[in-house]
Amino acid sequence: MAESLFIGKNLIELDAVDSTNNFAKELLLGNKPVEGTAIVAREQFAGRGQMGNTWKTESGKNLTLSVILYPDFIDADKQFFLNMAVSLAVKDFCEFVLNEEIRIKWPNDIYYADKKLGGILIENTINGSKISSSVIGIGININQNEFDSSLPNPISFAQIRKTEFNILDLVAELCAYLEKYYLQLRQLHFNFLDKAYTESLYRYQQTHEFKKSGQLFRGEINGVAKDGKLIIHYNGRELRFGFKEVEFVL
Ligand code: BTN
Repeated sequence: MAESLFIGKNLIELDAVDSTNNFAKELLLGNKPVEGTAIVAREQFAGRGQMGNTWKTESGKNLTLSVILYPDFIDADKQFFLNMAVSLAVKDFCEFVLNEEIRIKWPNDIYYADKKLGGILIENTINGSKISSSVIGIGININQNEFDSSLPNPISFAQIRKTEFNILDLVAELCAYLEKYYLQLRQLHFNFLDKAYTESLYRYQQTHEFKKSGQLFRGEINGVAKDGKLIIHYNGRELRFGFKEVEFVL
């Protein structure tokens, strides 16, 4: 993969921080950082995940990155396309490094088989009808071999490939993939992103069990609506679910 032109060119390397996303958001409060500014930390002591969860990782072993972008060319009601672009970049990056099939568990978990390799936390600032700035937080399990027992199904690059990786080399590679997909978004290639994302979904067009308000049902993922809702076909009907309204049964 070629080098990136702007994402990660301004790279801030931290030894320890509460959360790289928090650090990026603080930078945004000051003078506008150059687009593509990236923050990477050896250790995060209060890493944040989706829905207020914590993101716990062993110091020095994993990739914890945040990137500042200004996607003011997309309307706020199209913000799921930014999620698609970032998820596809992380997926392609993992496939390139691991040479294994990786899938996106809706909306943006990165999966190897039935195990979680990484996650994404995107925090947008909306101004009027536009996204004025975005902090793209990415956490990928790299050299960690043992995980907290509270995590249901984690896996790392090292566990898959039985070797250690240089995290800063991986950061440079990931930035190149992020840039590739961000440029697709900037060119408003929504159909391309939609198709690539949909076809990369974990359990796409397969019948599996899901849980909604404690009730189990079997359905088939058929795609994602423009607002990011997951479309599941169930008993001849098309159901749409927002984030946390449906659970995958693994
Ligand atoms: C999730 O799967 O819940 C999302 C996890 C996102 C973790 C990354 S690590 C870098 C950035 N900083 C944070 O505090 N969170 C994100």
